[in-house]
Amino acid sequence: MAIEIIATGRAVPPKRVTNDDLAEKLDTSDEWIRSHTGIGARHIADETVASSDLALEAAQKTLLWAIESGSVQEKTITRLAETIDLIILGTTTQDYYGCPATSCIVQGKLGAKNAAAIDISVACSGFIYSLETAAGLLLISPIRKRALVIGAETLSRLTDWDDRQSCVLFGDGAGAVLLEKTQAPLKGQKKRGLLRSILGADGSGSEHLMIRRGGSRAPFKSGETVDKAPSIEMDGRAVYNFAVNAITSTIENLLKEEGIGLKDVARIIPHQANARIVQAAGKRLGIPDEKFYLNIEEYANTSCASIPIALDELNRAGEFKKGDLIMTVGFGGGLTFGGNLIIW
Ligand code: UT7
Repeated sequence: MAIEIIATGRAVPPKRVTNDDLAEKLDTSDEWIRSHTGIGARHIADETVASSDLALEAAQKTLLWAIESGSVQEKTITRLAETIDLIILGTTTQDYYGCPATSCIVQGKLGAKNAAAIDISVACSGFIYSLETAAGLLLISPIRKRALVIGAETLSRLTDWDDRQSCVLFGDGAGAVLLEKTQAPLKGQKKRGLLRSILGADGSGSEHLMIRRGGSRAPFKSGETVDKAPSIEMDGRAVYNFAVNAITSTIENLLKEEGIGLKDVARIIPHQANARIVQAAGKRLGIPDEKFYLNIEEYANTSCASIPIALDELNRAGEFKKGDLIMTVGFGGGLTFGGNLIIW
C-alpha cells in the first residue's frame, strides 16, 4: 500500500504584526529580529479564535481543494468529510487543558462523523510525527483509507509579550493535508507517497523549552493569584544548538536510510523556527540555500503549522511536480525532532 497526499490547505489569521510594530512596545528592532532570525512579521489570531478554528478552516480548504482538483469522487465537503477515518492534529496550543482533544472539536465541526480523533503533543515536531502516525494507522487497518493531518497553533496565547528573546519568534496559523491509502506501485512503477520518516526525542533537554505552570507538576490552586499567565520559556542558545544538530543528522539519516543523495531531493521543507538554524545546518552539509523553502519572514514560527503551511503554499503555487521527492525536517520542545520523505 502507498500513503499519498492528495490535497493541502492552510489558514492564516489576517492580522499581521511587523517587527516595527513590536519595537513600539518592546526593546527590540526590525534589524535585530531580521538578522538573528529571518523573521519580518507574524500573523496573530483574534481573541475569539482558538486553534481548532484555524484547524477547521485549513481542513475545509483542504477538502475543497481535493474536490476541485478532482482527486476524490465526492462532490461536497460534507460528503467528503464523512469518508475520513482519522483526524490527527499536532498542536502545542490545545483549545482546552487536557480534555477534550482539539482534534475532536475539529471532527465535530467538520462533520467527519466516522473519524477517530487524536491530538499529538510534541511541540514543533507535531506535523512530522502526525504524518507518520496517520500513515501507520492507515496501513495497519484493512478498513481505514483516508486521514486528515493538521498542524494548528495559536502560540500568541502562550507568548510572554514582555520576553523579547522569545516573543518575537512566534505566530499563529494552521495547515492540513488529506492522506489517502492507495494500491502499492506495481513492479517497475515509481514509488509514491510517504516513503519513510525519522522520529526522535531527547527528553534530557526537556527543560530547555517549557510551559511550566498549569500541568500536574505545578497545577494552579484555587485561590492562588498568579501575576503571569503560563507562557513558553526557552533557553534560546541550547535550543539553537540542539536544532542545528537535529536538522543536520535527520537530513543525513533520511538520505542514508533511503539510499539516495541530495541531488534526488527536489525541495527540503524545514520547520520555520529561525532561518539561521536552517542556514547553519545547510552549510554543514553543503546544501545550497535555494534547496530549502523558507517563508519565516512572513509567518515567524507557527510550530506544528509551519511545515503544512509551507507545503500548501508550494502546492498551490504549482511548485511541486508529480514524482518530486520532498523532505520535511524539524525539531521542537521535548526535545523532539524528525523528518519525512514524500514522493509528491
Ligand atoms: O519552537 C521554538 C523553538 N525555539 C527556537 O527555535 C529558538 C532557538 N534559538 C534562537 O533562535 C536564538 O537563540 C534566538 C533568536 C532566540 C536568540 O538569538 P541569539 O543570537 O542566540 O541571541 P542571544 O540570546 O545570545 O542574545 C544576544 C543579545 C543579548 O544581549 P546582550 O546580553 O549581548 O547585551 C540579548 O539580550 O541579543 C539580545 N536580545 C535581543 N535584542 C533585541 C535577545 N532578544 C532580543 C531582541 N531584540 N528581540
